[in-house]
Amino acid sequence: MTHQPIRKAVFPVAGLGTRFLPATKAIPKEMLPVVDRPLIQYAVDEAREAGIEQMIFVTGRGKSAIEDHFDIAYELERTMTDRNKDISVLEPTRLGPGNCAYVRQQEPLGLGHAIWCARDIVGDEPFAIFLPDEFMHGSPGCMAQMVEAYHRLGGNMISVLEVPHEKVSSYGVIAPGKSHGAVTEVLGLVEKPKAEYAPSNLIISGRYILQPDVMRVLERQEKGAGGEIQLTDAMAQMIGKQAFHAVTFDGKRYDCGTKVGYIEANLAVALGRPDMADDVRAIALDLLR
Ligand code: UTP
Repeated sequence: MTHQPIRKAVFPVAGLGTRFLPATKAIPKEMLPVVDRPLIQYAVDEAREAGIEQMIFVTGRGKSAIEDHFDIAYELERTMTDRNKDISVLEPTRLGPGNCAYVRQQEPLGLGHAIWCARDIVGDEPFAIFLPDEFMHGSPGCMAQMVEAYHRLGGNMISVLEVPHEKVSSYGVIAPGKSHGAVTEVLGLVEKPKAEYAPSNLIISGRYILQPDVMRVLERQEKGAGGEIQLTDAMAQMIGKQAFHAVTFDGKRYDCGTKVGYIEANLAVALGRPDMADDVRAIALDLLR
């Protein structure tokens, strides 16, 4: 059986980024760089690698830097070309008009609400979601691994990873069923459970492939944990009606929504870069002495 291809991705980037203030007062959290690329660029590259063609950004006030980042910077390119500088580094930042769309979430009412704001552009086809502050580092990328599983199984897919049990209450948690390799059946989902009631220590880690029916559930605008419209609650209502699986990412995930996770991501990427690894290693060792 062939399943409808995943052509569109939604990037909810309308959050307030309060954990990174004051850095995120005037620039969005998603523009924070890991070494020399903003978080949002890594997410878009991961989507492209998975064969996704259209990027849909759900933005809010103060997020225009993201639109500028994916636009053509005429003055910059002209000046660099005049000075015989290589502009190929800008290549991945260009998203043509057919490849990107922006919608506004006027109030930050929650992740579920942000996704619902993209309903008209998504239309009636399965789509991917990326939370750019979850930085997924590996090859093939996390979404490519999920798309591979989706082509076999169809339905809905989320990426999961294991965390120490006492940390589950900050995340969406799955109730797992049977596993085959990296793929686990999802029997239930709960957002930010108390550790003692959590059905497992497998948390949802910022990547989703969902059927368009989720938009009709989100339409009801029901509020969940923290008074926000939660994507996890909407997905939970689809379990039992449609196939629902979790994919454990073969790679490393850094939670760049937290300061420590963000520092870890920068160090890990820098230590993997041939142009700087030796220098960064020497600096780190020196600081630790
Ligand atoms: P977070 O829970 O990380 O919230 O949102 P946040 O506002 O970005 O950051 P903090 O907690 O204040 O530091 C998870 C994802 O959902 C998006 C965010 O942009 C982020 O990608 N989001 C969240 C929205 O787009 N709209 C919302 O109303 C809430």
